[in-house]
Parts: sequence; C-alpha cells; structure tokens
Amino acid sequence: MGAKLLCLCLLPALLAYYIYTPLPAELAEPCTVMLFSAAFRAVGHLAEALDMLGLMHYMEGMRLITVFETVPVMSDENVTVTDTTFSNVPVHLYLPRRAPAGLRRAMVYFHGGGWCLGDAGMKIYDHMSRRISNELDAVVVSVNYRLAPEHRFPIPFEDAFSVTKFFLQSRVLSQYGVDPARVCVAGDSAGGNLAAAVAQQLLEDPEVKAKLKAQVLLYPALQALDLDLPSYRDNDNKPLLPRALMVRFWSEYFTSDPSLREAMASNRHVPAESAHLFQFVNWSHLLPEEMRKAHVYRVPSHGSAALARRFPGLLDPRASPLLVSDARLSRLPLTYILTCEHDVLRDDGVMYARRLRAAGVSVTHDHAPDAFHGALMFLSWPLDLAVGHRLFHRYVQWLDENL
Ligand SMILES: *[C@@H]1O[C@H](CO)[C@@H](O)[C@H](O)[C@H]1NC(C)=O
Ligand SMILES: *[C@@H]1O[C@H](CO)[C@@H](O)[C@H](O)[C@H]1NC(C)=O
Repeated sequence: MGAKLLCLCLLPALLAYYIYTPLPAELAEPCTVMLFSAAFRAVGHLAEALDMLGLMHYMEGMRLITVFETVPVMSDENVTVTDTTFSNVPVHLYLPRRAPAGLRRAMVYFHGGGWCLGDAGMKIYDHMSRRISNELDAVVVSVNYRLAPEHRFPIPFEDAFSVTKFFLQSRVLSQYGVDPARVCVAGDSAGGNLAAAVAQQLLEDPEVKAKLKAQVLLYPALQALDLDLPSYRDNDNKPLLPRALMVRFWSEYFTSDPSLREAMASNRHVPAESAHLFQFVNWSHLLPEEMRKAHVYRVPSHGSAALARRFPGLLDPRASPLLVSDARLSRLPLTYILTCEHDVLRDDGVMYARRLRAAGVSVTHDHAPDAFHGALMFLSWPLDLAVGHRLFHRYVQWLDENL
C-alpha cells in the first residue's frame, strides 16, 4: 500500500521533471513547445538506448519520428503531385492544376533534418510544398537527397546539386512551363545549408546557363568551424535542437567516428594551419552588438591536423557555405534569410546576411525574437502553433513579391 502510494506521488513528479524544460519568457506558446520538446527528447533517449544496445544506429532510431509523419503521394483539387526522379535522385513534383496564366515560377526545395533525417513526403513538407505550389501558382520540386550516415558528405550535397542543375536545363524548364528567370532554391535547417551551397556552386559550373532568381534560407546551418558562437552558448539546451544534437548532426555528416564528435563538442576540431578560415565566421565583428550581448570572443583552440585530414569536409564550403570569399558571395542572387532567437543556428544566418549585404547582395533578413529552431514545422494539426503560421505567412508573402 505504502509503495503504491509512493509510486502514485513519484510518477507524476518524475514525469513533470522529464517534461519540464526551462523556457525563456519571450518564447511563443511555451506549454505546447515544452510538450513537443519532451516527446522529441524521449525519442532521442530511446534512440541512444537502442544505439548503446547495438540494435540500430542512433540516427535510425531518430528516424522513427519521420517514418510516422510520412504521408502517401496524393494529388488534390489544386495540385498534381508525382513521385519521380531528376538525374536519378527521387523528387516529389508539385504542379498546379489550374490553367497557367503564362510561364510559372518554380522552387527547388531541400527538407531539413541534420542531413540524417527527414523526407519530402513528411506531412509538414508535403503541406508546405502543396501550399506554395497552389498559392503562388508555382512548380515545386521537393528533393529526397540521400541521407547520412549511410551516405555522407558530399553525397547529400551532390544529390541536391544535380537535381537543381537538371531542372535548370532549358528543355526541362519549358517541359514544365517554368520561366527560367523565376527559379529559386530553398530549404530549412540542413536543407538551408544545401540550398546555400547549391546556389554558390552553380555559379562555378559553366554548363549551367539559367541563373537563380533567389535563394531562401530558413534557419540554415552555414558553418561547422566555430560551434561556440553566442547562439550556441545561449541555446545550449533549447527545444528542438540542443547543441549536443547539432554537434551530432554535423559530425555524422562526415563520420560516425566519435573522435570527431568529441573534438567538435569541445570546439577543438580546426587545425592551426586552417586558422585563417576563422575570419569568415568571426562573430566579434560579424554580429551586431545586440546579438553579441555580454559574450566575450575567444579564438577557438586548435585541433589535430590528422583529424582534419581524415575529414576534409569540415573545411569545405560545400558543407560550410560561410567559408567562401566576399568576391564569390557578391555573385549570389537575391536572398531571404529567416533566423530565430532561440536557436543554436541563429548566428550562422545572421552572419551570412551581414556578409552577403556587405558583398552587395540584396538580402531580406527576418529575425523572429519569439521563435525556436524548427518553428515552421508547426503548421497543421496536431503540430500547430501560431508562431509557425506567422513565419510561414511572411515567407510566402516574400516569395510572392520577389520570385
Ligand atoms: C484549393 O485552393 C483553394 C483556393 O486557394 C483553397 O481554398 C482550397 O482549400 C484548396 N484545396 C485543398 C485541398 O488544399
Ligand atoms: C576576430 O576579429 C577581431 C576584431 O573584431 C580580431 O581582433 C581578431 O583577431 C579576429 N580573430 C580571428 C581569429 O580572425
């Protein structure tokens, strides 16, 4: 009897402890966010346990989240959706059904998920692609690039690049009735990383004749060099992307060898001979003062040259688009960047916006002071938040005016 009573009191207390995450006062809809965050953490713990038991890789465990979220490919009254391949990479293609008023605009979209998770067929990505196709009368190509850890850098990037290059051929654009002057790349989180890298690398490819009209980067990851930016310090344990998970995503993009993950976790993974690259991510002058807050800049400690030689992707701009020179940045198209205050990736986006503007690129930078990483994922029941709708509405409005 005593034991039962104890359980009865202890269980809710334990559950409350598990669910409780200290959240900043200015975060929108904190209770709902806390519940989502607890569910997400629970999957993370389960994945860690399965990995430790040797039953599956941590990332396979994490994919349980996305598997349940996947919906079948289905057309509706407004949009025809097909599952096809471009340049041997699977894509979901969204074509508006209404008769075209002229040539259409188009978006090539890369989903998020730390290069390890996610699918164009997840309910939320399907929802966004469908709405953009319908509301903007646009062709949307949502790309199922191959994922790490099975397919590491540069494969996810190469898939993203080859789909975009394939789509930009004039015969393909005309087959889908697309205006070659109105095509953008877009993506969220790791997908924003791929979109930024694709936009840069297209400029280096003489075979690509059509130019992108815009790049759209939604809370993108843009550099793996310095993982001790103020945004990493401020948001070490915020929903849905704690620092430890971002470090895991970055390291898994290159290897499952824990030595890289450990070096990244302590921010000692860039060797002395590459220290000049820190100029591209030096937040002591690339962040505005109000975002530096009281943080003091520390030059990151140097890591082992052997480690960097084993995983050259670490210093490759196709993985870290912030690492290119201003001269190369200056050729990039019109840019939309969304950053969220409560996000380890906040400063990546802020610094890219700053560097692009300084290089003469026209940039719209929206910063959401009450949002967290992944806020755009909350657009339909039961994952429904006003902050998600607000950010999505603003992003679609920008596309409508600029694409
Ligand atoms: C089709 O488009 C109309 C007008 O934009 C919208 O009201 C309706 O909900 C759409 N249907 C679906 C299934 O999304
Ligand atoms: C970063 O910028 C500051 C000036 O804001 C400079 O003093 C420092 O040497 C720079 N560090 C690196 C590693 O580029």
